[in-house]
Amino acid sequence: MSVVIARELTRLYSVSRGLFKPAATVRALNGISFELEAGQTLAVVGESGCGKTTLARALTLIEQPTSGSLQIAGQEAAGASRAQHKQLRRDVQMVFQNPYASLNPRRTIGDQLAEPLLINTPLSRAERRERVQAMMQQVGLRPEHYGRFPHMFSGGQRQRIALARAMMLNPKVLVADEPTSALDVSIQAQVLNLFKDLQDEFGTAYVFISHNLAVVRHIADQLLVMYLGRTMESGPSARIYSRPLHPYTQALLAATPRLHPDPSKPRIKLHGELPNPLNPPSGCVFNQRCPYATEHCRQVVPELRPLEGRLVACHYAEQISL
Ligand SMILES: Nc1ncnc2c1ncn2[C@@H]1O[C@H](COP(=O)(O)OP(=O)(O)OP(=O)(O)O)[C@@H](O)[C@H]1O
Ligand SMILES: [Mg+2]
Repeated sequence: MSVVIARELTRLYSVSRGLFKPAATVRALNGISFELEAGQTLAVVGESGCGKTTLARALTLIEQPTSGSLQIAGQEAAGASRAQHKQLRRDVQMVFQNPYASLNPRRTIGDQLAEPLLINTPLSRAERRERVQAMMQQVGLRPEHYGRFPHMFSGGQRQRIALARAMMLNPKVLVADEPTSALDVSIQAQVLNLFKDLQDEFGTAYVFISHNLAVVRHIADQLLVMYLGRTMESGPSARIYSRPLHPYTQALLAATPRLHPDPSKPRIKLHGELPNPLNPPSGCVFNQRCPYATEHCRQVVPELRPLEGRLVACHYAEQISL
C-alpha cells in the first residue's frame, strides 16, 4: 500500500512586479503526481528554482497546494479535521539543508531530541532520556553529547542530530530537502549511509530532494525529474539511470561525473539559463534548452506518457533514445 499518494499537486504564487503592474503568477508546482510505498525512497531532482522545496512544503503540510490532492497513510490532507491534521504532521517529518537553522542554539541536544516525546507521548522523564540516548546511538552520537549545545558540533554531526529529531516519533514519511548539500563531500556519504540505515531499521518512506543526480543514485528507488514545476520523467530509478529517455534527464546525468563514462551514450550539455518562471515558454517548458526541439515542441505541451516502464514528457523520446 502506498503511504504517500500525490495527485496533480499544483502551487501558484502571486508575485508583485512593481507599483503599476498587475501581479504575475508563478506556477512553482504544476501538476506533480507520484505514489510512494513504506521503506522506499523517491528522489526528486532538478535545477535550482524547479519547485523542489515547494513540493517539500506541500508534502509536509507547511503550505497548502493551490490544487491537487495529497494522501498520507490513507488520510486526505485537504479537509482533514484538526486532530487528523495534528496526526498527519507527526506522520510526516522534515530535514532541511541547513541543520543549524533548525536547531535551537540555547538548548542542549538531549532536550531538543526529547521535546517531540514530551509533547506527543506520556513517557516519563527517565523513559524519554532512555529513548533519546538510544536514538543518539543509532545516529552515531555518543552519550556525552546529550548535554551539549548545537554550536559544539560539526556540520555532519548536526545533520545527524536533525535526522535523529525527525525520526524520534517514528514518522511514516521523511522529507529531506538537500540534506547533504551543505556538507563536505567526505561527510556526505556517511550521512547518506545513515539515512539508508535508519530507513532499513524503521521502514520509513523518504522523499529525498537534491539538485545532484549523483548524490541520490544509491538511495533512490523511484526518481522524479522536475523542470519548471513539471515532471519531465519519473519512474523506477534503476531504469532511468541506465537509460534516461528525456533530453533533460540525459543532460543532468551527463553533467554528473562518472567513473567509467560510456562513449556510446550521448552527452548532452545544458546551455543557457532556466527560463523566467514568470514567463515560461509555450509548448514544452524545456524547448529553449533542448538540442532536439522542433516547432512542434514550441507549440504543444508534451503529455506525461508511459514509455519503457516509466513516464516521460517528451514528443520525441523514442527517436532521440534509439
Ligand atoms: N513564497 C514564494 N513566493 C513567490 N514565489 C515563490 C515562493 N516560493 C518559491 N517561489 C518561486 O517558485 C519557484 C520554485 O521555487 P523552489 O524554492 O520550490 O525551487 P527549488 O527547486 O527548491 O530551488 P533550489 O534548488 O534553489 O532550492 C521559483 O521560481 C521561486 O522563485
Ligand atoms: Mg529548494
